[in-house]
Amino acid sequence: MNQKTKVGIIGSGPSGLLLSQLLYVNGIESIVVEKRTRAHVEGRIRAGILEQGMVDLLEAAQVADRLRKEALIHGGIALQFEGNAHRIDMEKLTGGKVVTVYGQNELTKDLMDAHEERGQSPVYQALDVQISGIEVDRPTLTYTKNGEAFRVECDYVIGCDGYHGVSRSYIPSTILKTYQKIYPFGWLGVLADVPPVSDELIYNNHVDGFALASQRSKTRSRYYIQCDLDEDIKEWPDDRFWSELVHRFGEEVGSQIITGPSIEKSIAPLRSFVAEPMRYKSLFLAGDSAHIVPPAGAKGLNLAASDIKYLSDALIRRYKTGKVDLLESYSDKALSRVWKSIRFSWWFTSLTHRFPEHEKGDLGHKLQIAELDYIVNSKAASTSFAENYVGLPY
Ligand code: APR
Ligand code: PHB
Repeated sequence: MNQKTKVGIIGSGPSGLLLSQLLYVNGIESIVVEKRTRAHVEGRIRAGILEQGMVDLLEAAQVADRLRKEALIHGGIALQFEGNAHRIDMEKLTGGKVVTVYGQNELTKDLMDAHEERGQSPVYQALDVQISGIEVDRPTLTYTKNGEAFRVECDYVIGCDGYHGVSRSYIPSTILKTYQKIYPFGWLGVLADVPPVSDELIYNNHVDGFALASQRSKTRSRYYIQCDLDEDIKEWPDDRFWSELVHRFGEEVGSQIITGPSIEKSIAPLRSFVAEPMRYKSLFLAGDSAHIVPPAGAKGLNLAASDIKYLSDALIRRYKTGKVDLLESYSDKALSRVWKSIRFSWWFTSLTHRFPEHEKGDLGHKLQIAELDYIVNSKAASTSFAENYVGLPY
């Protein structure tokens, strides 16, 4: 079956769905092809901290109704070390900027519902997606669904297919350059319907490993502990997780943690990754297909947001005016913000986690504590931290 559209989008994660929705509200047609089912995509538990830029984009995409009702606004976070938690008043330090707490899977659900309401849901279970015609600027997407072959002729193809997607492989190896750092540990995360231990997030540098107290609502908590890369999730029953979490948060905070049955538990590896350029002729990359950050800075979803802001503006300008200047500058502009977030996420991970070369409480750990102590007691240092955490300007 042959179809035509203006913009072909591979992937129905936050990047692909948000781009498609922003194009739609600006009268530009697109088709999203997704290899998984809606239920699988919707069920992926990811982070839940939104910079204001992402909230603004969801408002522009006309999908922010539920977020406005249910999301929490956080003006600060705490850095805990040596047993004491120190609040960073980000709202005061940045002249009023805050972050919004709203689960990524909630945001994905809202975007999927918007697609369904306009009768243009992504093509789910689209298998063997391939791209042709990029070299001659007449790209075509092909895929199979239920054994039937489909072709979609487009003006542009956008790879929103994540780190393990196919789109990046269509940039010639003589042009594509990738950068990668694999961290020697992972995050063991638990989602539980228990009230959060604190009103805001707590990032904890403990000599036995990093821990994070996060949340999804006043009744649903998200906790993480740093773990070894070779950990087996089956070796972490709930009571062992809660015991280690309470241990790392110590008497003052740990004793206040309300525990309960996990509704989701998983181990995620950590990497920093960037692919350059984010454009090759009529193929553009956005979101995790072009970059991955370790989760400490909560930047993954928020970098996808700035990519989609730049790309949607560029495509809207091209179709409204014929001008392609923003398309030409997309890759450089997106990468400039990507690298600043890659740096912050690497720095914050390096500052809060225990590295294999660190013996318990050794020089490496003492240097981390010294830097954390400097940050919480220096207006300049805490301001720098705050402006990165709430999100650098687009
Ligand atoms: N064909 C079709 N779809 C594909 C293919 C393929 N070959 N490969 C991957 N996909 C789909 C995946 O199933 C997934 O639904 O592309 C989507 C990519 O979504 P994400 O990985 O969520 O990436 P993105 O939309 O950029 O969102 C970035 O998601 O993973 C988090 O931490 C990340 O918060 C960040 C956000
Ligand atoms: C989360 O709530 O899942 C979360 C919050 C902050 C992070 C990472 C993950 O830095």
